Amino acid sequence: MVPPSPSPRRAAHRMAVVCTPGLEAWCQAELKALGVRPKPAGPGTFEADATTRQVYACNLWLRTAARVVVRVATFRATDFSRLQAGAAAADWSPWLAEGTAPRFRISANDSKLYHTDAIAQRLHQVVGAPSLGEPEQLFIVRIERNTVTISADSSGDALHHRPWRTELSTAPLRTTMAAAGLAAAGWQGETSLLDPFCGAGTIPIEAALLALGLPPGGRRPFAFHAWPSFEAGTWASVVAGIPAEPGPLPDGVTITGSDRDPAMVRAAVANAERAGVAGRVQFSEGVVSQLKARPGPGLVLTNPPFGRRLGDNRLDGLYRRLGMVANQRLAGWDLAMVCPERRLAHLADGRLTPLARFRHGGLPVELLYRAATGGEIDPAEPPDQAEVPESTPEPITESLSTEG
Ligand SMILES: C[S@@+](CC[C@H](N)C(=O)[O-])C[C@H]1O[C@@H](n2cnc3c(N)ncnc32)[C@H](O)[C@@H]1O
Repeated sequence: MVPPSPSPRRAAHRMAVVCTPGLEAWCQAELKALGVRPKPAGPGTFEADATTRQVYACNLWLRTAARVVVRVATFRATDFSRLQAGAAAADWSPWLAEGTAPRFRISANDSKLYHTDAIAQRLHQVVGAPSLGEPEQLFIVRIERNTVTISADSSGDALHHRPWRTELSTAPLRTTMAAAGLAAAGWQGETSLLDPFCGAGTIPIEAALLALGLPPGGRRPFAFHAWPSFEAGTWASVVAGIPAEPGPLPDGVTITGSDRDPAMVRAAVANAERAGVAGRVQFSEGVVSQLKARPGPGLVLTNPPFGRRLGDNRLDGLYRRLGMVANQRLAGWDLAMVCPERRLAHLADGRLTPLARFRHGGLPVELLYRAATGGEIDPAEPPDQAEVPESTPEPITESLSTEG
């Protein structure tokens, strides 16, 4: 019997997975859970051999990754003729459908070829003209010390663009950072989750999707769906892992968000409906000083307002209030927050320690965490922390838009 010849449908891929630098530990853990063996390949990048099924599954299930690409070709080129010869020798047919135009995103470092527009022009001469309105397939071209690596984007829209999040707050937290915060705090949906500054609901909705075993982007389309090598049967078997109906949360577990701004609460409710988790997550209007919650165990994961004017004392009062509420009314709840200024976080609780550092909205920020307390105020905290009057004006901040 003649063995089946290898075809693009069956070929294993050299896959690269990209995440925000600083989130690598959680992206790596997710990859391993999908049976991939990731090797670090620079800040925010992992490489691995992967089956077609794993490429599809990574796009569907990774909560902390931004993009998944597969290797098309790698070759050396020190001039345009070698670049074009290398591109002509590559097999583009698995990735580029009839009627689809190639688009090149190029970076060059320490190489003889460095003019990215000229490189793109030469590649278009070989692979096909730029789009005149046709759908596009993105190829990522990296030239590093004269070695050209071309990869086909399998994701399409960046994975952190969840289709359910069409309504945004003025300073939205990137969805992948919310997912990394949950993972870093060790939250898996077995205890309650609360975000008292929920904005458009990013953290509670990400939490609900995780707890219910639903994919972060729902059934969104991916670039690989348009590849000539797309395997409908393999994809069907990957999506067969999605529960038909979200089950209930475990007994006693609640996922809640609150915000002082009623427009944000409406946006969060609408986002939760689009995400298919409306019945599993509750949003309400309220200021943090009036926050009430059931006794823990649980996780408070939040992204409080922050401003450009560091040291703004209106923010100081807000963080002190958060700390007072967390320590006096949320016994048994772990506390985690994304914050650009350790000083502010420590006004809430001096025991918060950093679990991750990454850039968010152009600012370096930390994800800080402390485990549940017995409900007493940290003796290391300033004694007036408990005395912040409820009527202290809430801050009006210049929060940065953080959606990229
Ligand atoms: C940085 S945003 C949170 C963004 C959210 N993580 C998202 O992705 O949409 C901070 C939120 O805190 C809310 N906020 C400000 N002061 C508050 C207070 N005292 N109590 C409750 N919410 C407050 C704002 O309305 C804003 O939506």
